[in-house]
Amino acid sequence: MTSSPPIAGGGAAVKRAVRLLRDGFLVGMPTETVYGLAADAANPEAVARLYAAKGRPRFNPLITHVASLEAAAAEGELDERARALAARFWPGPLTLVVPVAATVRTCDLARAGLETIALRVPRHSLALELVGAFGGPLVAPSANPSGRLSPTRAEDVATAFGDSVALVLDGGPCEAGIESSIVSLLPGEPARLLRPGAIPRGRLEKIAGALEAPVKGGISAPGQLESHYAPRAAIRLNAVDVREGEALLGFGADAPEGAANLSRSGDTVEAAANLYRLLRELDAKGADTIAVMPVPQEGLGEAINDRLQRAAAPRNGGHAAG
Ligand code: TXA
Ligand code: MG
Repeated sequence: MTSSPPIAGGGAAVKRAVRLLRDGFLVGMPTETVYGLAADAANPEAVARLYAAKGRPRFNPLITHVASLEAAAAEGELDERARALAARFWPGPLTLVVPVAATVRTCDLARAGLETIALRVPRHSLALELVGAFGGPLVAPSANPSGRLSPTRAEDVATAFGDSVALVLDGGPCEAGIESSIVSLLPGEPARLLRPGAIPRGRLEKIAGALEAPVKGGISAPGQLESHYAPRAAIRLNAVDVREGEALLGFGADAPEGAANLSRSGDTVEAAANLYRLLRELDAKGADTIAVMPVPQEGLGEAINDRLQRAAAPRNGGHAAG
């Protein structure tokens, strides 16, 4: 990394981003979940540049972002179940994994050679504007170096990637602060929750019925390498005390005053929005270990605990992905 890329918002910046993407460059894109690192999904060179910038293992496929249901249907085969979920949650933080369509434009490299594709229509106005103005699918993994915390602010993207990113669109801090929920809808298969995310399971199940767990060792599931989303500090989960050398990440009203707190009122939506930012801040203070108070499994707690468990997992040589 050398110098920082420009950070800009507004219509002129979107136009500039479109030109850069057409030329195969990478652009930081705000979404309602986390910032993405966008590239032209149909351009294998741009996608290769994206994998290189992220340091992402090739086998981890990317999410294709499109502006509409029609554009999604050109990339993937949406069955009844997929259409029902899309009707309810798109634009929004839901990613559907479906069979690739014959008219797919997302290149093989972006799909890691799979016969399935991950699709989503983001809700953030700048993301929708960008994908719409680009006029084709954009792949956008979370804009963090592989295995690191996902970024929720434009500055995070600029700092992490330097000039391997041509431009970062500034859409302010992310609303959800945690990645999209990923549901797979494959022929002859039950609907599966591959990654708990910004939409609580209960809301998805109202439309899709009970969601099964991912197939173990089956399709290359989302960020399913154990150590993932990791800060530099070690993480200790379900902490009920703070030990020497530790920084506390609290949850709820029982946390000591003045400690970093995911949500003093115990709201898992607020906690999700704060999660990566607070981990990043505690990490920057240089604590050896971040002790995290228990977060209940309800609401977005399932997604938060999933990310925390990955952040706490033993790290073997930085082979994390995502
Ligand atoms: O909220 C989000 O989804 C963010 C924003 C930027 O849109 N993006 C994001 O992308 O989290 P990424 O690349 O960090 O995570 C995408 C996950 C990967 O872990 C990958 O394994 C999974 O989606 N995925 C992609 N295609 C898949 C497929 N065909 N089958 C199973 N999982 C797939
Ligand atoms: Mg990621």
